[in-house]
Amino acid sequence: MQARARARANIALVKYWGKSDAALNIPAVGSISITLDGLWSDTEIEFDSKLTHDSLLLDGKEDATQLRRVTTCLDLLRREADVEMPARVVSHNNFPTGAGLASSASGFAALVGAATAALGLERSPTELSILARRGSGSAARSVFGGFVEMHVGEASDGNDSYATPLLAADDWPLHVVIAVTETGAKATSSTKGMQSSEATSPFYRAWVESSPADLDAARSAIVSHDFDKLGEVAEHSCMKLHALAMTSRPPILYWNPATLACIDAVRALRRSGVPVFFTIDAGPQLKAVCLPEATDRVAAELHDVSGVVDVLVTGLGPGLEMG
Ligand code: PMV
Repeated sequence: MQARARARANIALVKYWGKSDAALNIPAVGSISITLDGLWSDTEIEFDSKLTHDSLLLDGKEDATQLRRVTTCLDLLRREADVEMPARVVSHNNFPTGAGLASSASGFAALVGAATAALGLERSPTELSILARRGSGSAARSVFGGFVEMHVGEASDGNDSYATPLLAADDWPLHVVIAVTETGAKATSSTKGMQSSEATSPFYRAWVESSPADLDAARSAIVSHDFDKLGEVAEHSCMKLHALAMTSRPPILYWNPATLACIDAVRALRRSGVPVFFTIDAGPQLKAVCLPEATDRVAAELHDVSGVVDVLVTGLGPGLEMG
């Protein structure tokens, strides 16, 4: 009753922000992401009747907040497998946890992969994506590699709200340069931020209504490998998400001065002809997406921005890997 799995982080180019059903974790909008080769979670799980409760060791530390979400996710699987045993979960991220680098995406995808295997449950990638969604909305996308689309679905039980692959990583090998501007955990979790935007931002309805057009534009840009078009819609979606956060009450500002300086640097690079665009999630890190020939230049420029403490470079990678 033991298994392990590896899942990679992903970053959304068309963002998810807001839920239509908080209990089932059904997103209010679809999203499109890329799975990152170099950022992963390795998770090992053991179900053991001698344990009295679930435990989670995340990067060597007990994590009570994440443990609650892990237990909720494991309860679903225990019910399906008809077992009651608690589990010991040991997870390791090879990148900073909780700082807006999508650790919940890789973490929950790896968790459901390892847990279903340990329980002897045979689940299709689609079913794994639905299960991962219950842990974290973005985790549903990390089940797949390359370019991935998450669907809101229509069913009230969320059983058609899952991700599907759009294009394999090798079919359009973009690179991502991550400018780390802060290594501590973020101030407002995405769950809290979304709740606040839904309840208080005057722009929330417009965000939901304008989402299908962004998804259409991004999907067609990906299929035709149109980098400029993809960059335009990705930056638009990112700015809309941060506009929602900023116009929530109280306002949420995920950026720091270095984040803004990185935006400036990316725009200056683009003006000089470098194929690059940016995106930013619920944290202060900027992710620059570029064509491979521009990677060194983009990494060097972002490295020199005042306040940038680290620069990570990665290509696109595969989905959930078992064993
Ligand atoms: O999966 P969650 O609940 O951590 O939410 C992710 C939210 C964003 O990263 C900001 C956007 C996205 O689509 O990944």
